[in-house]
Amino acid sequence: MYKLANVYREFFPVGTAVSNDYISKNRLLLLRHFNSLTAENCMKPVYVHPFEDKYDFGRGSQVADFAIRNRMLLRGHCLVWHKQTPDWFFLDGDSPAGRNKVLSRMESHIQTVVGCFRAAAYAWDVVNEAVSDVDGEAPLRAGKWLSLGGEDYIPRAFRAAKQVDPQCRLFYNDFNETRPAKSRRIYDLVKGLLSDGVPVDGLGMQGHYNIYGPSADEVSAAIELYASLGVELQITELDVSLFRHGDQTSFDEPPAELLEMQAERYGELFAVFRKYSKYITGVTLWGASDEMSWLNNFPVKNRQNWPLLFDCEHRPKAAFERAVQWK
Ligand code: XIL
Repeated sequence: MYKLANVYREFFPVGTAVSNDYISKNRLLLLRHFNSLTAENCMKPVYVHPFEDKYDFGRGSQVADFAIRNRMLLRGHCLVWHKQTPDWFFLDGDSPAGRNKVLSRMESHIQTVVGCFRAAAYAWDVVNEAVSDVDGEAPLRAGKWLSLGGEDYIPRAFRAAKQVDPQCRLFYNDFNETRPAKSRRIYDLVKGLLSDGVPVDGLGMQGHYNIYGPSADEVSAAIELYASLGVELQITELDVSLFRHGDQTSFDEPPAELLEMQAERYGELFAVFRKYSKYITGVTLWGASDEMSWLNNFPVKNRQNWPLLFDCEHRPKAAFERAVQWK
């Protein structure tokens, strides 16, 4: 049987997001098919830095050790985000914290976390999802980082990370990244950062897609736009949902025709990634097998989705076959 990361060795590393539980129970699947890992949750601020004076690196270190022991790459995820970030970052007593306090907390968080995982993580998603999803509004996402930290929070985050680990590849990461209006905002943001000399090495396209879109042409257009910035590109969180966002339908078993559409989508997406592999330095799926996907709880709670390459019993799906067979 084909091994995913082997098949892609000449193109780019192939990774998956993992939880601690997943690592301990699914070692064989991980080692067979992937040569890169991302911690799905345990390196996020809420887990590594629950209180201002308390860091907790236990779970993150387990993932990092697993990667090192098995000679896998590790992408750090993520340092600055509007979700899964504890409120203490933004508070001074019961009031909103002032700008300096927010930014210096952010910097010291980044320095400590990047420093802690320096031996394992070759890349970090430094700023995640900072661009607005609402067309026609201000380009940056409204939220506490922006309202309390000011626009400067983004360059300062990258500079803080670079300072502590100059070798680390630093990424800006976002979703809905193939939509023309949003991709333009992402492009403008990164272009502005680069022209100010901010150390951004790469752009992460999350890749949360579904069986209806985006099309191969739309993904290609986004890749070409971002590649023109001269930064490396990675697909950081790939999955292909069986449902349109907002669709509440559920199934006991995945309908064969939808799995076939999914296989086709994976086939054409990987073809696009191969075509642009001179720009793409990694493709990471947001999970290995269907029993462990965030889409089984999002956006509909407890609704089984089947968005990945391996089924709940770890058997390769048609999507896997299509992703690896092209010659
Ligand atoms: C998701 C995880 O998969 C879930 O387990 C968690 O409850 C919420 O976050 N974009 C990101 C990821 O950058 O960190 C998110 O991961 C999925 C969307």
